[in-house]
Amino acid sequence: MSESTAEKLVELAKRRGYFFPSAGAYGGVAGFYTFGPQGAALKQNVEDAWRERFAVREGHQEIDAPTVMPEPVFEASGHLDGFDDMLVECAECGESHRADHLIEDNTAIEEAESIAIEEVEELIDEHQLVCPSCGADLSGEPVDDFNLMFGTNIGPGDSSPGYLRPETAQGIFVEFPLLKEYARNQLPFGVTQIGKAYRNEISPRKSVIRTREFTQAELELFVDPEGEGPDLSRVEDVEVRLYPIGEQEDEEGELIETTIGEAVADGTLASPWIAYHLGIAQEWYERVGVDKSRFRFRQHLSGERAHYASDCWDAEAELDEDWIELAGFAYRGDYDLSKHAEHSDEDFTIFKQYDEPVTVERATVDPDMSYLGPEFGGQAQDVADALESLAEEDRSAFEGEDVTVDVDGEEYTVPVEKTDFSVDEVTESGEHITPHVVEPSFGVDRLLYTILDHAYAEDEVGGEERTYLSLDPEVAPTTVGVFPLMDKEGLGERARDLAAELRAAGLSVNYDDSGAIGRRYRRQDEIGTPFCVTVDYETLEDGTVTVRERDSTEQLRVPLEDLDETLTALSEGDLAFADVDGEPVEED
Ligand code: GAP
Repeated sequence: MSESTAEKLVELAKRRGYFFPSAGAYGGVAGFYTFGPQGAALKQNVEDAWRERFAVREGHQEIDAPTVMPEPVFEASGHLDGFDDMLVECAECGESHRADHLIEDNTAIEEAESIAIEEVEELIDEHQLVCPSCGADLSGEPVDDFNLMFGTNIGPGDSSPGYLRPETAQGIFVEFPLLKEYARNQLPFGVTQIGKAYRNEISPRKSVIRTREFTQAELELFVDPEGEGPDLSRVEDVEVRLYPIGEQEDEEGELIETTIGEAVADGTLASPWIAYHLGIAQEWYERVGVDKSRFRFRQHLSGERAHYASDCWDAEAELDEDWIELAGFAYRGDYDLSKHAEHSDEDFTIFKQYDEPVTVERATVDPDMSYLGPEFGGQAQDVADALESLAEEDRSAFEGEDVTVDVDGEEYTVPVEKTDFSVDEVTESGEHITPHVVEPSFGVDRLLYTILDHAYAEDEVGGEERTYLSLDPEVAPTTVGVFPLMDKEGLGERARDLAAELRAAGLSVNYDDSGAIGRRYRRQDEIGTPFCVTVDYETLEDGTVTVRERDSTEQLRVPLEDLDETLTALSEGDLAFADVDGEPVEED
Protein backbone atom coordinates (compact mmCIF):
# COMPACT_ATOMS: atom_id res chain seq x y z
CA MET A 1 0.00 0.00 0.00
CA SER A 2 1.42 3.39 -0.94
CA GLU A 3 2.00 5.91 1.81
CA SER A 4 -0.69 8.57 2.24
CA THR A 5 0.20 12.27 2.13
CA ALA A 6 -0.51 12.37 5.87
CA GLU A 7 2.06 9.63 6.56
CA LYS A 8 4.68 11.28 4.34
CA LEU A 9 4.00 14.68 5.87
CA VAL A 10 4.25 13.48 9.47
CA GLU A 11 7.53 11.76 8.64
CA LEU A 12 8.88 14.89 6.90
CA ALA A 13 7.66 17.09 9.78
CA LYS A 14 9.74 15.11 12.26
CA ARG A 15 12.81 14.71 10.04
CA ARG A 16 12.97 18.39 9.10
CA GLY A 17 11.99 19.90 12.47
CA TYR A 18 8.40 20.98 11.86
CA PHE A 19 6.64 19.02 14.63
CA PHE A 20 6.90 15.76 16.53
CA PRO A 21 5.29 14.07 19.59
CA SER A 22 6.76 15.70 22.69
CA ALA A 23 8.71 14.08 25.56
CA GLY A 24 9.66 11.12 23.35
CA ALA A 25 12.57 10.33 25.68
CA TYR A 26 9.96 9.36 28.30
CA GLY A 27 7.66 7.49 25.96
CA GLY A 28 5.64 10.58 25.05
CA VAL A 29 2.06 11.26 25.95
CA ALA A 30 -0.80 11.38 23.47
CA GLY A 31 -2.05 14.78 22.44
CA PHE A 32 1.07 16.87 23.09
CA TYR A 33 3.37 18.03 20.30
CA THR A 34 6.55 20.09 20.09
CA PHE A 35 7.09 22.43 17.16
CA GLY A 36 10.73 22.14 16.11
CA PRO A 37 12.83 25.01 14.71
CA GLN A 38 11.01 25.10 11.35
CA GLY A 39 7.57 24.58 12.90
CA ALA A 40 8.07 27.26 15.54
CA ALA A 41 9.18 29.75 12.86
CA LEU A 42 6.22 28.84 10.62
CA LYS A 43 3.87 29.23 13.60
CA GLN A 44 5.33 32.63 14.44
CA ASN A 45 4.95 33.81 10.84
CA VAL A 46 1.32 32.61 10.66
CA GLU A 47 0.49 34.26 14.00
CA ASP A 48 2.11 37.50 12.81
CA ALA A 49 0.05 37.35 9.59
CA TRP A 50 -3.13 36.74 11.64
CA ARG A 51 -2.29 39.61 13.99
CA GLU A 52 -1.64 41.94 11.05
CA ARG A 53 -4.98 41.07 9.39
CA PHE A 54 -7.41 40.51 12.26
CA ALA A 55 -6.06 42.90 14.91
CA VAL A 56 -3.91 45.66 13.43
CA ARG A 57 -5.73 46.18 10.12
CA GLU A 58 -9.15 46.04 11.75
CA GLY A 59 -8.11 48.44 14.50
CA HIS A 60 -8.63 45.93 17.32
CA GLN A 61 -6.58 45.61 20.52
CA GLU A 62 -4.70 42.47 21.61
CA ILE A 63 -4.45 41.19 25.19
CA ASP A 64 -2.55 38.38 26.91
CA ALA A 65 -4.55 36.75 29.76
CA PRO A 66 -3.59 33.84 32.10
CA THR A 67 -4.13 30.24 30.97
CA VAL A 68 -5.36 29.17 34.45
CA MET A 69 -8.61 30.69 35.71
CA PRO A 70 -10.66 30.11 38.87
CA GLU A 71 -13.69 27.81 38.90
CA PRO A 72 -16.37 30.56 39.11
CA VAL A 73 -15.32 31.80 35.65
CA PHE A 74 -16.24 28.42 34.16
CA GLU A 75 -19.38 28.08 36.27
CA ALA A 76 -20.52 31.33 34.70
CA SER A 77 -19.37 30.51 31.16
CA GLY A 78 -21.20 27.18 31.20
CA HIS A 79 -18.05 25.11 30.57
CA LEU A 80 -18.27 23.32 33.92
CA ASP A 81 -21.67 21.91 33.07
CA GLY A 82 -21.79 21.88 29.30
CA PHE A 83 -18.32 21.38 27.82
CA ASP A 84 -18.56 17.63 27.30
CA ASP A 85 -17.82 14.99 24.70
CA MET A 86 -19.44 11.55 24.51
CA LEU A 87 -17.29 8.82 25.99
CA VAL A 88 -17.65 5.07 25.66
CA GLU A 89 -15.28 2.80 27.57
CA CYS A 90 -14.32 -0.69 26.42
CA ALA A 91 -15.13 -3.23 29.15
CA GLU A 92 -12.46 -5.56 27.76
CA CYS A 93 -9.32 -3.39 27.54
CA GLY A 94 -10.42 -0.28 29.43
CA GLU A 95 -9.62 2.12 26.54
CA SER A 96 -11.87 5.19 26.22
CA HIS A 97 -13.19 6.35 22.88
CA ARG A 98 -15.23 9.27 21.55
CA ALA A 99 -18.56 7.67 20.78
CA ASP A 100 -19.50 10.18 18.06
CA HIS A 101 -16.17 9.59 16.27
CA LEU A 102 -16.74 5.81 16.32
CA ILE A 103 -20.06 6.41 14.58
CA GLU A 104 -18.59 8.81 12.02
CA ASP A 105 -15.71 6.42 11.28
CA ASN A 106 -17.91 3.33 10.87
CA THR A 107 -21.21 4.54 9.40
CA ALA A 108 -22.34 6.96 6.70
CA ILE A 109 -23.22 9.55 9.39
CA GLU A 110 -21.02 12.64 9.04
CA GLU A 111 -21.79 14.83 12.07
CA ALA A 112 -22.54 12.53 15.02
CA GLU A 113 -21.65 15.20 17.61
CA SER A 114 -25.18 16.59 17.30
CA ILE A 115 -26.89 13.26 18.07
CA ALA A 116 -28.41 12.66 21.54
CA ILE A 117 -26.62 10.19 23.86
CA GLU A 118 -29.47 7.61 23.86
CA GLU A 119 -29.48 7.55 20.06
CA VAL A 120 -25.68 7.18 20.01
CA GLU A 121 -26.00 4.12 22.28
CA GLU A 122 -28.60 2.68 19.90
CA LEU A 123 -26.36 3.32 16.88
CA ILE A 124 -23.44 1.53 18.58
CA ASP A 125 -25.73 -1.49 19.14
CA GLU A 126 -27.31 -1.33 15.69
CA HIS A 127 -23.96 -1.19 13.84
CA GLN A 128 -22.30 -3.60 16.29
CA LEU A 129 -19.37 -1.23 16.71
CA VAL A 130 -16.20 -2.64 18.22
CA CYS A 131 -13.36 -1.20 20.28
CA PRO A 132 -10.72 0.19 17.85
CA SER A 133 -7.97 -0.87 20.30
CA CYS A 134 -8.86 -4.53 21.03
CA GLY A 135 -11.82 -5.38 18.77
CA ALA A 136 -14.24 -6.18 21.64
CA ASP A 137 -17.95 -5.59 20.99
CA LEU A 138 -19.11 -2.20 22.37
CA SER A 139 -22.85 -2.98 22.12
CA GLY A 140 -24.61 -2.31 25.40
CA GLU A 141 -21.76 -0.19 26.82
CA PRO A 142 -23.05 3.06 28.35
CA VAL A 143 -22.15 6.36 26.70
CA ASP A 144 -21.39 9.16 29.18
CA ASP A 145 -20.70 12.88 29.05
CA PHE A 146 -17.03 13.62 29.76
CA ASN A 147 -15.98 17.17 30.71
CA LEU A 148 -12.98 18.28 28.64
CA MET A 149 -11.44 20.76 31.05
CA PHE A 150 -8.15 20.05 32.83
CA GLY A 151 -8.67 20.82 36.52
CA THR A 152 -6.04 22.00 39.00
CA ASN A 153 -5.77 23.58 42.46
CA ILE A 154 -4.66 27.16 42.77
CA GLY A 155 -2.18 27.32 45.67
CA PRO A 156 -1.84 24.62 48.34
CA GLY A 157 -4.88 22.59 49.35
CA ASP A 158 -8.05 22.19 47.37
CA SER A 159 -10.05 25.20 48.51
CA SER A 160 -9.46 27.13 45.31
CA PRO A 161 -10.09 24.93 42.27
CA GLY A 162 -9.11 26.24 38.86
CA TYR A 163 -9.02 25.06 35.26
CA LEU A 164 -6.73 25.43 32.29
CA ARG A 165 -8.72 27.56 29.87
CA PRO A 166 -10.47 25.51 27.18
CA GLU A 167 -10.69 28.62 24.94
CA THR A 168 -8.80 31.90 25.05
CA ALA A 169 -12.14 33.75 24.77
CA GLN A 170 -12.99 33.65 28.50
CA GLY A 171 -9.84 35.65 29.31
CA ILE A 172 -11.33 38.44 27.19
CA PHE A 173 -14.93 38.22 28.46
CA VAL A 174 -14.05 38.38 32.16
CA GLU A 175 -12.05 41.57 31.58
CA PHE A 176 -14.88 43.29 29.69
CA PRO A 177 -15.54 45.86 32.49
CA LEU A 178 -12.00 47.23 31.97
CA LEU A 179 -11.74 46.57 28.23
CA LYS A 180 -14.85 48.67 27.54
CA GLU A 181 -13.18 51.60 29.34
CA TYR A 182 -10.07 51.25 27.16
CA ALA A 183 -12.41 51.34 24.15
CA ARG A 184 -13.99 54.53 25.58
CA ASN A 185 -17.35 52.72 25.81
CA GLN A 186 -17.78 52.89 22.03
CA LEU A 187 -19.27 49.96 20.12
CA PRO A 188 -18.27 48.11 18.05
CA PHE A 189 -14.83 47.25 19.39
CA GLY A 190 -12.76 44.10 19.10
CA VAL A 191 -10.25 42.41 21.37
CA THR A 192 -7.95 39.65 20.14
CA GLN A 193 -5.79 37.07 21.85
CA ILE A 194 -3.35 34.46 20.55
CA GLY A 195 -2.46 31.80 23.09
CA LYS A 196 -2.66 28.27 24.39
CA ALA A 197 -5.91 26.47 25.13
CA TYR A 198 -6.28 23.05 26.76
CA ARG A 199 -8.81 20.27 26.31
CA ASN A 200 -8.54 16.82 27.81
CA GLU A 201 -9.55 15.19 24.52
CA ILE A 202 -10.82 11.62 24.92
CA SER A 203 -8.93 10.42 21.87
CA PRO A 204 -6.38 12.88 20.47
CA ARG A 205 -5.62 11.98 16.89
CA LYS A 206 -4.22 12.93 13.49
CA SER A 207 -1.02 14.44 14.90
CA VAL A 208 -1.47 18.18 15.57
CA ILE A 209 -5.07 18.22 14.33
CA ARG A 210 -6.62 17.07 17.61
CA THR A 211 -4.32 17.66 20.57
CA ARG A 212 -4.73 18.33 24.27
CA GLU A 213 -2.75 21.57 24.18
CA PHE A 214 -3.09 23.85 21.16
CA THR A 215 -2.96 27.49 20.12
CA GLN A 216 -5.98 29.59 19.31
CA ALA A 217 -6.14 33.02 17.68
CA GLU A 218 -9.45 34.54 18.69
CA LEU A 219 -11.24 37.81 18.05
CA GLU A 220 -14.13 38.81 20.30
CA LEU A 221 -16.01 41.61 18.60
CA PHE A 222 -18.48 43.49 20.81
CA VAL A 223 -21.33 44.96 18.80
CA ASP A 224 -24.59 46.82 19.37
CA PRO A 225 -27.25 44.36 18.10
CA GLU A 226 -29.31 47.32 16.91
CA GLY A 227 -26.36 49.31 15.62
CA GLU A 228 -24.85 49.61 12.19
CA GLY A 229 -23.26 46.52 10.65
CA PRO A 230 -19.82 46.28 9.03
CA ASP A 231 -18.86 47.80 5.68
CA LEU A 232 -19.69 44.82 3.47
CA SER A 233 -18.51 46.60 0.31
CA ARG A 234 -14.99 45.61 1.37
CA VAL A 235 -15.78 41.89 0.98
CA GLU A 236 -18.85 41.66 -1.25
CA ASP A 237 -16.92 40.32 -4.27
CA VAL A 238 -14.94 37.73 -2.32
CA GLU A 239 -15.69 34.27 -3.77
CA VAL A 240 -16.58 31.59 -1.22
CA ARG A 241 -17.81 28.02 -1.18
CA LEU A 242 -20.63 27.63 1.36
CA TYR A 243 -22.25 24.50 2.76
CA PRO A 244 -25.38 25.75 4.58
CA ILE A 245 -27.68 23.59 6.77
CA GLY A 246 -30.23 23.13 3.96
CA GLU A 247 -27.62 21.61 1.61
CA GLN A 248 -26.28 19.33 4.37
CA GLU A 249 -29.74 18.01 5.15
CA ASP A 250 -30.57 17.40 1.49
CA GLU A 251 -29.27 14.07 0.15
CA GLU A 252 -28.49 15.77 -3.15
CA GLY A 253 -27.06 18.82 -1.33
CA GLU A 254 -23.84 20.36 -2.56
CA LEU A 255 -21.42 23.22 -1.97
CA ILE A 256 -22.69 26.58 -3.15
CA GLU A 257 -20.16 28.65 -5.08
CA THR A 258 -21.09 32.26 -4.48
CA THR A 259 -19.80 35.62 -3.31
CA ILE A 260 -20.22 37.16 0.13
CA GLY A 261 -22.45 39.87 -1.36
CA GLU A 262 -24.81 37.33 -3.01
CA ALA A 263 -24.93 35.11 0.10
CA VAL A 264 -25.98 38.08 2.25
CA ALA A 265 -28.53 39.22 -0.33
CA ASP A 266 -30.22 35.79 -0.61
CA GLY A 267 -30.17 35.23 3.18
CA THR A 268 -27.71 32.29 3.21
CA LEU A 269 -25.54 34.38 5.52
CA ALA A 270 -27.97 35.87 8.06
CA SER A 271 -25.49 37.92 10.10
CA PRO A 272 -23.61 40.68 8.23
CA TRP A 273 -20.90 40.47 10.90
CA ILE A 274 -20.33 36.77 10.27
CA ALA A 275 -20.44 37.44 6.51
CA TYR A 276 -17.79 40.16 6.80
CA HIS A 277 -15.45 37.89 8.73
CA LEU A 278 -15.94 34.94 6.38
CA GLY A 279 -14.91 37.32 3.59
CA ILE A 280 -11.70 38.50 5.19
CA ALA A 281 -10.94 34.97 6.44
CA GLN A 282 -11.30 33.56 2.90
CA GLU A 283 -8.75 36.08 1.59
CA TRP A 284 -6.42 35.52 4.53
CA TYR A 285 -6.46 31.73 4.32
CA GLU A 286 -5.56 31.95 0.63
CA ARG A 287 -2.79 34.43 1.45
CA VAL A 288 -1.09 32.07 3.93
CA GLY A 289 -1.28 29.11 1.57
CA VAL A 290 -4.58 27.25 2.00
CA ASP A 291 -5.68 25.80 -1.35
CA LYS A 292 -8.95 27.51 -2.34
CA SER A 293 -10.18 24.36 -4.10
CA ARG A 294 -9.89 22.38 -0.82
CA PHE A 295 -11.55 24.93 1.43
CA ARG A 296 -15.16 25.71 2.37
CA PHE A 297 -17.37 27.29 5.04
CA ARG A 298 -19.90 24.88 6.61
CA GLN A 299 -22.81 26.03 8.76
CA HIS A 300 -23.29 24.17 12.06
CA LEU A 301 -26.36 21.96 12.31
CA SER A 302 -28.58 23.08 15.18
CA GLY A 303 -27.63 20.19 17.52
CA GLU A 304 -23.95 20.74 16.81
CA ARG A 305 -23.68 24.33 18.01
CA ALA A 306 -21.82 25.10 21.24
CA HIS A 307 -23.97 26.05 24.25
CA TYR A 308 -23.31 29.77 23.67
CA ALA A 309 -23.87 30.05 19.91
CA SER A 310 -27.03 30.95 18.02
CA ASP A 311 -25.38 30.60 14.59
CA CYS A 312 -21.97 29.26 13.63
CA TRP A 313 -20.02 28.65 10.44
CA ASP A 314 -16.81 26.62 10.36
CA ALA A 315 -13.92 27.16 8.00
CA GLU A 316 -12.97 23.66 6.84
CA ALA A 317 -10.04 22.31 4.83
CA GLU A 318 -9.88 19.05 2.92
CA LEU A 319 -7.04 16.80 4.06
CA ASP A 320 -6.69 13.25 2.69
CA GLU A 321 -10.39 13.36 1.66
CA ASP A 322 -11.54 14.38 5.11
CA TRP A 323 -12.93 17.82 5.98
CA ILE A 324 -11.21 19.30 9.06
CA GLU A 325 -12.45 22.32 11.03
CA LEU A 326 -9.89 25.14 10.98
CA ALA A 327 -11.93 27.93 12.58
CA GLY A 328 -15.39 28.74 13.89
CA PHE A 329 -17.31 31.97 13.28
CA ALA A 330 -19.97 32.08 15.99
CA TYR A 331 -22.69 34.58 16.86
CA ARG A 332 -22.53 34.33 20.68
CA GLY A 333 -25.22 36.96 21.30
CA ASP A 334 -25.16 38.41 24.84
CA TYR A 335 -24.66 34.95 26.39
CA ASP A 336 -21.15 35.45 27.77
CA LEU A 337 -21.46 39.01 29.08
CA SER A 338 -24.88 38.31 30.66
CA LYS A 339 -23.57 35.17 32.38
CA HIS A 340 -20.52 36.95 33.80
CA ALA A 341 -22.76 39.83 34.95
CA GLU A 342 -25.05 37.32 36.67
CA HIS A 343 -22.20 35.51 38.46
CA SER A 344 -20.05 38.53 39.41
CA ASP A 345 -20.57 41.98 40.91
CA GLU A 346 -19.22 43.82 37.89
CA ASP A 347 -21.03 45.81 35.23
CA PHE A 348 -20.91 44.06 31.84
CA THR A 349 -23.07 46.61 30.06
CA ILE A 350 -22.23 49.64 27.97
CA PHE A 351 -23.97 52.98 28.26
CA LYS A 352 -25.36 53.71 24.81
CA GLN A 353 -25.84 57.42 24.27
CA TYR A 354 -28.92 58.42 22.24
CA ASP A 355 -28.47 60.86 19.34
CA GLU A 356 -31.02 63.12 21.08
CA PRO A 357 -32.24 62.89 24.70
CA VAL A 358 -35.69 61.25 24.89
CA THR A 359 -38.51 61.84 27.37
CA VAL A 360 -40.14 58.66 28.64
CA GLU A 361 -42.53 57.63 31.39
CA ARG A 362 -40.78 55.73 34.20
CA ALA A 363 -42.58 53.80 36.92
CA THR A 364 -40.68 53.91 40.23
CA VAL A 365 -41.16 52.84 43.83
CA ASP A 366 -39.66 54.08 47.08
CA PRO A 367 -40.79 51.37 49.55
CA ASP A 368 -41.39 52.34 53.16
CA MET A 369 -38.66 50.34 54.94
CA SER A 370 -40.14 51.19 58.39
CA TYR A 371 -43.07 49.02 57.23
CA LEU A 372 -41.16 46.31 55.25
CA GLY A 373 -38.52 45.83 58.01
CA PRO A 374 -40.79 44.75 60.86
CA GLU A 375 -43.09 42.93 58.43
CA PHE A 376 -40.52 40.84 56.48
CA GLY A 377 -37.38 40.90 58.68
CA GLY A 378 -34.27 39.67 56.81
CA GLN A 379 -36.17 39.54 53.51
CA ALA A 380 -37.15 43.23 53.57
CA GLN A 381 -34.42 44.46 51.19
CA ASP A 382 -35.11 41.61 48.71
CA VAL A 383 -38.79 42.48 48.76
CA ALA A 384 -37.95 46.14 48.10
CA ASP A 385 -35.69 45.14 45.16
CA ALA A 386 -38.42 42.87 43.78
CA LEU A 387 -40.94 45.76 43.98
CA GLU A 388 -38.54 47.96 42.03
CA SER A 389 -38.11 45.34 39.26
CA LEU A 390 -41.84 44.72 39.10
CA ALA A 391 -42.56 48.45 38.72
CA GLU A 392 -40.22 48.51 35.67
CA GLU A 393 -41.67 45.37 34.13
CA ASP A 394 -45.44 45.54 34.90
CA ARG A 395 -46.86 48.73 36.29
CA SER A 396 -50.41 47.26 36.13
CA ALA A 397 -49.44 45.12 39.15
CA PHE A 398 -49.70 48.31 41.25
CA GLU A 399 -53.25 49.16 40.17
CA GLY A 400 -55.01 47.41 43.11
CA GLU A 401 -54.71 47.96 46.87
CA ASP A 402 -52.01 45.32 47.31
CA VAL A 403 -49.10 44.16 45.21
CA THR A 404 -47.49 40.70 45.41
CA VAL A 405 -43.85 39.89 44.58
CA ASP A 406 -41.98 36.64 44.36
CA VAL A 407 -38.67 36.32 46.25
CA ASP A 408 -36.87 32.98 45.89
CA GLY A 409 -40.15 31.16 45.22
CA GLU A 410 -42.01 32.74 48.13
CA GLU A 411 -44.78 35.32 47.70
CA TYR A 412 -44.80 38.59 49.68
CA THR A 413 -47.84 40.92 49.62
CA VAL A 414 -47.41 44.66 50.33
CA PRO A 415 -50.06 47.44 50.43
CA VAL A 416 -49.45 49.65 47.36
CA GLU A 417 -49.54 52.78 49.56
CA LYS A 418 -46.40 51.49 51.36
CA THR A 419 -44.49 51.31 48.03
CA ASP A 420 -44.79 55.00 47.10
CA PHE A 421 -45.43 53.87 43.52
CA SER A 422 -45.45 56.69 40.94
CA VAL A 423 -45.14 57.19 37.19
CA ASP A 424 -43.09 60.23 36.19
CA GLU A 425 -41.80 61.71 32.97
CA VAL A 426 -38.01 61.64 32.79
CA THR A 427 -35.55 62.75 30.15
CA GLU A 428 -32.88 60.18 29.39
CA SER A 429 -29.68 60.63 27.40
CA GLY A 430 -29.10 56.91 26.79
CA GLU A 431 -29.49 53.38 28.13
CA HIS A 432 -27.37 50.48 29.37
CA ILE A 433 -27.17 47.60 26.87
CA THR A 434 -25.38 44.28 26.94
CA PRO A 435 -23.34 44.07 23.72
CA HIS A 436 -23.53 41.01 21.50
CA VAL A 437 -20.41 39.05 20.65
CA VAL A 438 -19.29 37.95 17.19
CA GLU A 439 -16.42 35.51 17.45
CA PRO A 440 -14.01 34.40 14.74
CA SER A 441 -11.98 31.67 16.50
CA PHE A 442 -8.99 30.20 14.65
CA GLY A 443 -7.02 27.07 15.52
CA VAL A 444 -3.35 27.68 14.71
CA ASP A 445 -1.99 24.10 14.87
CA ARG A 446 -4.55 22.70 12.43
CA LEU A 447 -3.87 25.57 10.09
CA LEU A 448 -0.12 24.87 10.18
CA TYR A 449 -0.81 21.25 9.28
CA THR A 450 -3.12 22.34 6.44
CA ILE A 451 -0.58 24.82 5.08
CA LEU A 452 2.05 22.05 5.02
CA ASP A 453 -0.36 19.53 3.49
CA HIS A 454 -1.54 21.91 0.79
CA ALA A 455 2.06 22.94 0.05
CA TYR A 456 3.33 19.35 -0.15
CA ALA A 457 4.47 18.48 -3.68
CA GLU A 458 6.53 15.86 -5.47
CA ASP A 459 8.18 16.12 -8.89
CA GLU A 460 11.31 15.03 -10.74
CA VAL A 461 14.40 17.17 -11.10
CA GLY A 462 17.43 16.03 -13.12
CA GLY A 463 16.01 12.49 -13.26
CA GLU A 464 15.61 12.30 -9.48
CA GLU A 465 12.43 12.39 -7.41
CA ARG A 466 12.06 15.54 -5.36
CA THR A 467 9.77 16.46 -2.45
CA TYR A 468 9.21 20.12 -1.74
CA LEU A 469 6.93 22.39 0.25
CA SER A 470 5.58 25.15 -1.92
CA LEU A 471 5.19 27.55 1.01
CA ASP A 472 4.35 31.19 0.50
CA PRO A 473 7.45 33.32 1.30
CA GLU A 474 5.42 35.30 3.89
CA VAL A 475 5.07 32.23 6.10
CA ALA A 476 8.04 30.06 5.05
CA PRO A 477 10.30 29.54 8.11
CA THR A 478 13.39 30.37 6.06
CA THR A 479 13.35 32.82 3.18
CA VAL A 480 16.83 32.25 1.79
CA GLY A 481 19.31 29.38 1.87
CA VAL A 482 22.91 30.61 1.41
CA PHE A 483 25.58 28.13 0.30
CA PRO A 484 29.22 28.34 -0.66
CA LEU A 485 29.98 25.95 -3.55
CA MET A 486 32.49 24.50 -1.07
CA ASP A 487 33.98 25.76 2.16
CA LYS A 488 37.46 26.61 0.87
CA GLU A 489 39.51 29.25 -0.92
CA GLY A 490 37.48 32.05 0.63
CA LEU A 491 34.09 30.84 -0.64
CA GLY A 492 32.83 29.85 2.81
CA GLU A 493 33.90 33.16 4.30
CA ARG A 494 32.24 35.15 1.50
CA ALA A 495 29.01 33.12 1.87
CA ARG A 496 28.97 33.54 5.66
CA ASP A 497 29.42 37.31 5.22
CA LEU A 498 26.59 37.34 2.71
CA ALA A 499 24.32 35.39 5.09
CA ALA A 500 25.05 37.95 7.83
CA GLU A 501 24.32 40.85 5.44
CA LEU A 502 20.99 39.34 4.38
CA ARG A 503 20.01 38.68 8.02
CA ALA A 504 20.83 42.29 8.84
CA ALA A 505 18.46 43.28 6.02
CA GLY A 506 15.67 41.43 7.86
CA LEU A 507 15.62 38.18 5.87
CA SER A 508 15.45 34.78 7.52
CA VAL A 509 18.56 32.95 6.32
CA ASN A 510 19.82 29.38 6.59
CA TYR A 511 23.56 28.98 5.91
CA ASP A 512 24.52 25.47 4.77
CA ASP A 513 27.93 24.21 3.64
CA SER A 514 27.60 20.47 4.27
CA GLY A 515 27.34 17.89 1.50
CA ALA A 516 26.93 18.20 -2.25
CA ILE A 517 25.18 21.32 -3.53
CA GLY A 518 22.30 19.24 -4.98
CA ARG A 519 21.61 17.73 -1.55
CA ARG A 520 21.61 21.17 0.02
CA TYR A 521 18.99 22.31 -2.50
CA ARG A 522 16.86 19.23 -1.69
CA ARG A 523 17.10 19.99 2.05
CA GLN A 524 15.88 23.56 1.52
CA ASP A 525 13.17 22.33 -0.87
CA GLU A 526 11.88 19.98 1.82
CA ILE A 527 11.62 22.72 4.41
CA GLY A 528 10.03 24.99 1.82
CA THR A 529 12.73 27.68 1.48
CA PRO A 530 11.62 29.76 -1.52
CA PHE A 531 15.07 30.99 -2.65
CA CYS A 532 18.66 29.75 -2.48
CA VAL A 533 21.81 31.75 -3.19
CA THR A 534 25.11 30.08 -4.10
CA VAL A 535 28.51 31.70 -3.81
CA ASP A 536 31.07 30.24 -6.25
CA TYR A 537 34.37 31.13 -7.89
CA GLU A 538 32.66 33.56 -10.25
CA THR A 539 31.44 35.45 -7.19
CA LEU A 540 35.01 36.17 -6.17
CA GLU A 541 35.82 37.28 -9.73
CA ASP A 542 32.81 39.35 -10.78
CA GLY A 543 30.64 39.81 -7.68
CA THR A 544 27.68 37.75 -8.96
CA VAL A 545 25.84 34.80 -7.33
CA THR A 546 23.24 32.29 -8.50
CA VAL A 547 19.74 32.73 -7.15
CA ARG A 548 17.46 29.69 -7.45
CA GLU A 549 13.70 29.61 -7.13
CA ARG A 550 12.30 26.57 -5.29
CA ASP A 551 9.20 25.60 -7.28
CA SER A 552 10.56 26.09 -10.82
CA THR A 553 14.19 25.28 -9.83
CA GLU A 554 15.18 28.02 -12.30
CA GLN A 555 18.45 29.79 -11.59
CA LEU A 556 19.68 33.24 -12.46
CA ARG A 557 23.09 34.85 -12.14
CA VAL A 558 22.61 38.18 -10.40
CA PRO A 559 24.96 40.84 -9.00
CA LEU A 560 25.50 40.87 -5.23
CA GLU A 561 24.81 44.58 -5.27
CA ASP A 562 21.21 45.13 -4.18
CA LEU A 563 20.71 41.37 -3.64
CA ASP A 564 19.05 42.05 -0.28
CA GLU A 565 16.53 44.36 -1.96
CA THR A 566 15.85 41.87 -4.76
CA LEU A 567 15.26 39.01 -2.28
CA THR A 568 13.06 41.20 -0.07
CA ALA A 569 10.94 42.22 -3.07
CA LEU A 570 10.69 38.57 -4.18
CA SER A 571 9.67 37.37 -0.71
CA GLU A 572 7.10 40.14 -0.27
CA GLY A 573 5.51 39.35 -3.65
CA ASP A 574 6.52 42.75 -5.11
CA LEU A 575 8.74 41.15 -7.75
CA ALA A 576 8.24 37.99 -9.83
CA PHE A 577 11.26 35.72 -10.29
CA ALA A 578 10.79 35.98 -14.08
CA ASP A 579 11.30 39.76 -13.79
CA VAL A 580 14.59 39.58 -11.86
CA ASP A 581 17.42 41.20 -13.78
CA GLY A 582 19.91 38.32 -14.28
CA GLU A 583 21.44 35.75 -16.63
CA PRO A 584 19.73 32.32 -16.81
CA VAL A 585 21.85 29.41 -15.53
CA GLU A 586 21.58 25.65 -16.20
CA GLU A 587 19.32 23.89 -13.66
CA ASP A 588 20.80 21.84 -10.77
N1 GAP B 1 -13.95 30.18 21.49
C1 GAP B 1 -14.58 29.32 20.56
C2 GAP B 1 -13.93 28.03 20.43
O1 GAP B 1 -13.06 27.67 21.20
P1 GAP B 1 -13.89 25.87 18.99
O2 GAP B 1 -14.57 25.56 17.67
O3 GAP B 1 -14.10 24.93 20.09
O4 GAP B 1 -14.38 27.33 19.36
C3 GAP B 1 -11.83 26.94 17.80
O5 GAP B 1 -12.34 26.03 18.74
C4 GAP B 1 -10.73 26.31 16.98
O6 GAP B 1 -9.72 25.76 17.85
C5 GAP B 1 -11.19 25.12 16.14
O7 GAP B 1 -11.76 25.54 14.92
C6 GAP B 1 -9.90 24.35 15.95
O8 GAP B 1 -9.16 24.88 14.86
C7 GAP B 1 -9.13 24.62 17.22
N2 GAP B 1 -9.24 23.44 18.12
C8 GAP B 1 -10.26 23.11 18.93
N3 GAP B 1 -9.98 21.97 19.59
C9 GAP B 1 -8.76 21.57 19.19
C10 GAP B 1 -7.91 20.46 19.51
N4 GAP B 1 -8.26 19.55 20.41
N5 GAP B 1 -6.71 20.36 18.89
C11 GAP B 1 -6.31 21.30 17.99
N6 GAP B 1 -7.07 22.37 17.65
C12 GAP B 1 -8.27 22.51 18.25
